[in-house]
Amino acid sequence: FQPKVLAQRRVVITAGPTIEKIDPIRVISNRSSGKTGYAIAQAAREAGAQVTLISGPTALPAPYGVARIDVESARDMRSAVMHAIADTDLFIAVAAVADWHVANATDSKIKKTGAAGAPSLEFATNPDILAEVAALPHGPWCVGFAAETENLHEYAQAKRRRKAVPLLVGNLAQHAMNADITELVLFDDQGSHPLPVLPKIEAARQLIQAIANRLPRLIA
Ligand code: C5P
Repeated sequence: FQPKVLAQRRVVITAGPTIEKIDPIRVISNRSSGKTGYAIAQAAREAGAQVTLISGPTALPAPYGVARIDVESARDMRSAVMHAIADTDLFIAVAAVADWHVANATDSKIKKTGAAGAPSLEFATNPDILAEVAALPHGPWCVGFAAETENLHEYAQAKRRRKAVPLLVGNLAQHAMNADITELVLFDDQGSHPLPVLPKIEAARQLIQAIANRLPRLIA
């Protein structure tokens, strides 16, 4: 028996990488299998929520009962999130969003034989989807993620404050990448709360419980 701690809640979750096109053939992306975000979507659905999963390209099937919207670039992900976000109680940003897109991407394939030699890419900054949602008036309760390779506590708390979110979930990237187990640390205004090393679905269930404990109560 599992209590439906997110009954009557609408949840939007981002997951996976984004891909940013260089030309029609080539892309720049991030390493993200999507496993953590998909596990959280499954756990939220098990907890009774109505879940929309906005996902970059992954090899994973949508969890049962979860509505998935497929996107490619960070800018596509941003518009999908902004369309879905009205009347949402909770936003969990798990996606590994590319920090930049290629400003001089081309509509035809860049040829190797070009006299100019190797092409030069120009980058432009992508929108910060989480920070934007966190700043919405009457927006959802927001949870961010931070995958770091070192200084997890310091970076995660700094990120939580910078993005103005009540909860930020840290994981050490060397454990997390494409693995089926993870070690999460929750950071809130009280400090840090480590979870044990767990299979991702179990960590996701514990995270959903921790979020449910912190969510503002529904007005009856
Ligand atoms: O510091 P960083 O931007 O990598 O913070 C990661 C957190 O912010 C994650 O929750 C990620 O999904 C979110 N994010 C976002 N849009 C971006 C970059 C990160 O929503 N452009």
